Amino acid sequence: MNHLGEGFGGVKEMMTLLKPAGDSVPLVTSAGYVDVLAGHDAIGPHRGQQVFHKKFLALVYERLWRPLVSRAFFGLFGPRAATERRLALGMLAVSSGDRVIDVGCGPGNYTRELAAATIDGLVVGVDASAAMVAAAAKRSSRTNVAYLRADACALPFADGSFDAACSVGVIHMIERPMLALDEIARVLAPGGRITLVVSCAAEGRPGSVRNGVTVFGRDELTDWLREHGFVAIDQRVVRRGQFVSARKPAVHAGDPIGR
Ligand SMILES: C[S@@+](CC[C@H](N)C(=O)[O-])C[C@H]1O[C@@H](n2cnc3c(N)ncnc32)[C@H](O)[C@@H]1O
Repeated sequence: MNHLGEGFGGVKEMMTLLKPAGDSVPLVTSAGYVDVLAGHDAIGPHRGQQVFHKKFLALVYERLWRPLVSRAFFGLFGPRAATERRLALGMLAVSSGDRVIDVGCGPGNYTRELAAATIDGLVVGVDASAAMVAAAAKRSSRTNVAYLRADACALPFADGSFDAACSVGVIHMIERPMLALDEIARVLAPGGRITLVVSCAAEGRPGSVRNGVTVFGRDELTDWLREHGFVAIDQRVVRRGQFVSARKPAVHAGDPIGR
């Protein structure tokens, strides 16, 4: 257990957003992240999902694993890490002061960029792997960031807690992807923005699920967003991956963005 002193401003602010959930007490770990999962394993049972628990993966993820996986999705000549982040974060368009959630943050590769962009806002990186959030917390040097070990399918936040949400390379790895989408949509404030980077089937091919990994049909995600009332939907397909952004409408036209 940590005393939340200097440098834990983000954690303190995030704790004020957590909603009470039954008997589960958020634990501030000595590794610098907060854990609401305790002994529960929220990651799918398949080998390609369970690998995210491995400490070695968290260590080599950004330098080796992620670049290789990105090639598989975006092709040999597809966007490299910096270009990919520019595209995804450009679509999310966060502003100074925003509260942002990064769902399935891994070792914090997007979370850190978001924290720099929101300056005096708050960025919460959520991941179900202790190894990943521990690595993320270790690499974090900003005070407006907090890392949380939690399940994307049961986010422990009240409705409308965040101005923006991003989830990169995650939703297709989750056993119940649509439940994770429901949760992300729920914690987003009216007027809030969302950016997702996920798998994408080849033109004309249907979506599929294999070994716990979903390949989304071309229109599956954009249709879901439309059906859930999202507006300003933008989709950019890059080979077997897609960048999708949208905005949750304000409750009444003309309403300010609320929290
Ligand atoms: C491919 S990594 C993506 C990491 C990072 N967003 C990136 O862009 O590189 C997928 C992440 O999703 C996390 N994850 C898988 N299932 C999850 C769940 N149910 N809830 C939260 N995180 C989950 C894994 O632990 C892993 O860190």
